[in-house]
Amino acid sequence: MSESPKKIAVLGLGMMGNTHIASWLQREDAQIVAVSDPNPKRLSGEVRAEGNIDLLSEGGFDLSKIRTYTDFSDAIIDPEVEAVDICLPTLFHVDAAKLCAAEKKPFLLEKPVARTSEGVREILKAAETQGVLGMPALCLRFWPEWSWLRDTIKQGTYGKVLAARFERIGACPGGRFYHNGELCGGALLDLHIHDTDFVLHCFGPPQAVTSFGYPRMSGEIDHVVTHYHYEDIPLVVAEGGWQPKNDLPFRMRYMVTFENATVEYDLNADPTLTLYREGHDPEPILVGEQNGYDLQIAEFMQSLKEGTEPPTATLASSLISATIAEAERASIAQGRRIEISS
Ligand SMILES: NC(=O)c1ccc[n+]([C@@H]2O[C@H](COP(=O)([O-])OP(=O)(O)OC[C@H]3O[C@@H](n4cnc5c(N)ncnc54)[C@H](O)[C@@H]3O)[C@@H](O)[C@H]2O)c1
Repeated sequence: MSESPKKIAVLGLGMMGNTHIASWLQREDAQIVAVSDPNPKRLSGEVRAEGNIDLLSEGGFDLSKIRTYTDFSDAIIDPEVEAVDICLPTLFHVDAAKLCAAEKKPFLLEKPVARTSEGVREILKAAETQGVLGMPALCLRFWPEWSWLRDTIKQGTYGKVLAARFERIGACPGGRFYHNGELCGGALLDLHIHDTDFVLHCFGPPQAVTSFGYPRMSGEIDHVVTHYHYEDIPLVVAEGGWQPKNDLPFRMRYMVTFENATVEYDLNADPTLTLYREGHDPEPILVGEQNGYDLQIAEFMQSLKEGTEPPTATLASSLISATIAEAERASIAQGRRIEISS
């Protein structure tokens, strides 16, 4: 006999909330029973949100049969709700996640997990103390082109990595939350954390970081370039930044040079992923068509059913990436290399 669907609450109906709702609606093992947003237009499902990746955050869902709450705490304590998907502005993540833990309700939590590493530590401790599953929504670890890269690195398919370069540049999403660096952490935390975290996912914690960058629209660092120092990899670099709203398309790219091949991924290219090898024509790499949001929710549901740690993304690893991001910020502020303590 199949189990009844898990009853889910989605908190925050902005770009990410709508993106996650689209994923939840495809699942038979989950049912959204509650949503929360202080904005009545968002609660009506009338307002659509814009995202960096076309067609993934459209919104416009019929929420008429779903309980709506203006206060996210009320959605969390709703007795019918069994698991919570937190897509709130970053400043609310700690309070929402800690309430989920206290209520013993498993939660999926958008990145950045918290505004500070101390906040991530608090969430991790609350989840561990209550024995509740808390999974960071690190969608990048799940995108097929990115998980392909990580597998290729780990398996040593083309030899050792000599250089890895990551790039993520897009318009600042705008709105009060994103324009206040105190609340969102600037592009360094909000956008570039994807690459900081992916570097960690592929190569483990670096020994140190050296970063350059500057504040712009948020008052926090809104454009950063970081060299992640590793003993055995000559060059690992990532650049992330916000532009004012303009026509520059969102850029998400990587280029990794192995001993025996180079791979290049570019969201805006066709094909997006190409392998270059000496003596071969460029080889397009075809990976799965599923998107990272669907795959991360699938992992959350699997961990929920099996009572296991998520194999791909954990709060413990988010604590390390938050610590690295803070070292990047310190490196810019102090103009020097910052060691990452163990
Ligand atoms: N994984 C990714 O690729 C990705 C991309 C963008 C944003 N994010 C993250 O997702 C989170 C949400 O970002 P977003 O772009 O969706 O923001 P957004 O501004 O588009 O939406 C936030 C929503 O939360 C609502 N809200 C504000 N206060 C609330 C409260 N107290 N209770 C309930 N709802 C409240 C707002 O009305 C709004 O509808 C942020 O932490 C952001 O960094 C992740």
